[in-house]
Amino acid sequence: MEARATSSFERDSSIPLVARAVAVVPKRLRPILSLEDLEQAAKRHLPRPIFGYVSGAAETGATLRDNRAAFAEFGFITRVLRDVSARSQETALMGQTYATPFGIAPMGIAALSAYRGDLVLAGAARRARIPMVMSGSSLIRLEDVVQENPHAWFQAYLPGEPAKIDALVDRVQAAGYGTLVLTVDTAVLANRENNLRAGFSTPLRPSLRLAWDGLARPRWLVGTALRTLVKHGMPHFENSYATRGAAIVSRNVVRDFGAKDHLSWTHLAQIRRRWRGRLVVKGIMSADDALVARDEGADGIVVSNHGGRQLDGTVSPLRVLPSIVERVGCQYPVMMDGGIRRGTDIVKALALGAKFVFVGRPFVYAAAIAGQAGVEHAIGLLADEVRRDLGLLGVDRLHQLGREHLLPLCGLAGRLQ
Ligand code: FNR
Repeated sequence: MEARATSSFERDSSIPLVARAVAVVPKRLRPILSLEDLEQAAKRHLPRPIFGYVSGAAETGATLRDNRAAFAEFGFITRVLRDVSARSQETALMGQTYATPFGIAPMGIAALSAYRGDLVLAGAARRARIPMVMSGSSLIRLEDVVQENPHAWFQAYLPGEPAKIDALVDRVQAAGYGTLVLTVDTAVLANRENNLRAGFSTPLRPSLRLAWDGLARPRWLVGTALRTLVKHGMPHFENSYATRGAAIVSRNVVRDFGAKDHLSWTHLAQIRRRWRGRLVVKGIMSADDALVARDEGADGIVVSNHGGRQLDGTVSPLRVLPSIVERVGCQYPVMMDGGIRRGTDIVKALALGAKFVFVGRPFVYAAAIAGQAGVEHAIGLLADEVRRDLGLLGVDRLHQLGREHLLPLCGLAGRLQ
């Protein structure tokens, strides 16, 4: 069962969350009044290659931009005089109940941005009673993360190799995870030339430039890099397979990305037979694929283009969401991510049929600049926005959101921005 402890921001709904947050958050978080404020703060805090890795996207960034632009193509139609004093954003999803309709998307190498980054994200999610998806490309053992948050989900990148699939699935199962997310939009490595421009690679190659980039961010250097090295040694990729992978900094080791281009629906069926928990397929963009995933036994899907980090030019998930929901049925758990920065974005996605959404980059930025307090602050800001938006829309339960609350701006995009 999901933890039911009341999260701090649900406890006293009479005080606006932002006001409460400002009263208790560390000084450096006080100027952070929305998720968008986190990016600039993180840019000042993180070394150039690491900020470039988190913020970047594939090739021209067209998909990254569309992920934001698509939200601006809908305006709201508000309803009034509906007594919204008892509104709640509690969300039921695949048999669990969460405090909000959003969670933390899987993000690789979080422990390079923030000291013990995955644990920080997991801890904040546990306290806020929202899902956190642990990335398979991470530097902290999956067993340690589920200790911190028994309700965390695990995301795997699996190669099309049955023995490796079974070994990782067994490890995740033995660790006690209840939800496995299989990411399927990485058949081949994306062209992230921006990473190379920023000096980022996995593993990182030691160089004078890398040293200089680190020295230019002393708070990160001491608080994240040196603290990690002294207390835990050189981080390695811990969860790509059942066994430990490459070190994060190495002169000549080549990272094993496995035969991901061999992965097919047959392997999903294999995973379904072996994995006893909830199974989610992440990275679906077509209604046809959504139907196959559902029929192969996935308990839910995440409509996602990987935050614009895979095929540049892929459309925003918001654009395909309605057709996917229509194909798989409105009862089926269709989740989405990509470009969600505001409560209004969440409300629009739910009105178009999403059951749940995930947010990526802002939570890593928050972890980087202020650790767990930063992530809790970010969760609080977003939850507060959703709560306010529901009130202003005249809705007190999320399931009441529908197309009638939206007006497509059809060619007028941008006029409300
Ligand atoms: C990701 N994403 C990702 N997805 C996944 O399934 N496994 C992973 O390990 C990662 N790693 C990763 C690292 C970083 C730094 C980012 C920014 C993203 C994609 C992520 O789960 C999600 O789909 C997007 O980040 C959502 O878009 P926004 O909210 O960042 O715009």
